[in-house]
Amino acid sequence: MRAIRGEILHFLDDPADRGVEALEYFADGLLIIRDGRVAEAGPAEELLAKLPAGTPVDDRRGKLILPGFIDTHIHFAQADIIASHGEQLLEWLGKYTYPAERRFADPGHAAAVADFFCDELLRNGTTTAMAFPTVHAASVDALFAAAAERRMRLITGKVLMDRNCPDFLRDTAARGYAESHALIEKWHGRDRLLYAVTPRFAATSTPEQMALAGRLFVEHPGVYLQSHVAENRREVAWVAELYPEARSYLDVYDRFGHVGPRSVFAHCLWLDDADRARMATAGAAMSFCPTSNLFLGSGLFDLDRAHAAGVRVGIGSDVGAGTSFSMLQTLNEAYKVLQLNGQSLSAERAFYLATLGGARSLYLDDRIGSFAPGREADFVVLDPAATPLLARRNATCHTLAERLFVLMMLGDDRAVAETWVMGEPAWRRP
Ligand code: GUN
Ligand code: ZN
Repeated sequence: MRAIRGEILHFLDDPADRGVEALEYFADGLLIIRDGRVAEAGPAEELLAKLPAGTPVDDRRGKLILPGFIDTHIHFAQADIIASHGEQLLEWLGKYTYPAERRFADPGHAAAVADFFCDELLRNGTTTAMAFPTVHAASVDALFAAAAERRMRLITGKVLMDRNCPDFLRDTAARGYAESHALIEKWHGRDRLLYAVTPRFAATSTPEQMALAGRLFVEHPGVYLQSHVAENRREVAWVAELYPEARSYLDVYDRFGHVGPRSVFAHCLWLDDADRARMATAGAAMSFCPTSNLFLGSGLFDLDRAHAAGVRVGIGSDVGAGTSFSMLQTLNEAYKVLQLNGQSLSAERAFYLATLGGARSLYLDDRIGSFAPGREADFVVLDPAATPLLARRNATCHTLAERLFVLMMLGDDRAVAETWVMGEPAWRRP
């Protein structure tokens, strides 16, 4: 048993639905951890009195303690091409992405990048990620192994792509199925690791491969499915040509059984209300990737319509089309995207989306995303005065909402003082 004292904030629900009732906040709080899980969170004065004598207490007063961030869409193999100039989605894939992913045929390269990637997540306060690797089975092994070493929660699975891509990344429907099956048996449910069937996007899979992906998804209860949908207008038009029978881009996935609980679709920019309603009833989730959507000039996510439809929404960095591993910077750009859409993202809602909202998208809210008793004790310790500007601006704030907003607009990896995983320190800013 151990405890950590500081300013504690977590969410019980979506502030868009429940307002201030949705959050629990302790200005001087204590988080008690037993066997790597949350035993209790509450006011320090009250909880310290009943803490067994000799329980170690880490004093972080002056810092803000939140559940670890959850990145619902990121590409581990794209760390080396983040910030590549000048293209929109389809050209960017051909010019930068596929050549970078080719290198993951080498297990040594995959292992080195997986280590960098997991360390970078922790450095940014992200304790759970749903990630794309590459088409190579060894890239999946490398990422799962790196996450397991750090005891992180991680969801990934071999990328499936059997057409419209370079030969060096192309698998076949049968091989993709067989390798995915073997990887599920090897990794799904081991430690904190979960498998996701991963058709890259409808344009790079034949109908045969799409059907087998749907089969993998139903044959293995509890596995996930991740893909991209309706990101770029040219991509949407291309998919319509490839699948003329489908009503919409989302419908392509739906016809193959991909749209259901535990399926997560990145972007969701060029959907209509029928698609949104379908995702809501099916229980599928959207990953809102603002830095990527701005960087590739893809479009503006509509959070109001997603919310009105009742769809699960999480936040994704989408590195390497996304431009930052930092969920704080990702929330910063989420705010700006929504401003351009005439919508206003409150700071409370932003932090909800990066924590409990992500957990709900992944059907993991019984395990992560809040400090409810029994949750895995993954958390981030933020320094509201990490930089001279943050310190100065923070000093003028009067409310928690103002301070959270300043943190998400001005904060980045420098504001992450510590990251804890399963109740143990996993990273500390030197
Ligand atoms: N659509 C298909 N593949 C990708 C990818 O790697 N990144 C993004 N942003 N969109 C995609
Ligand atoms: Zn992506």
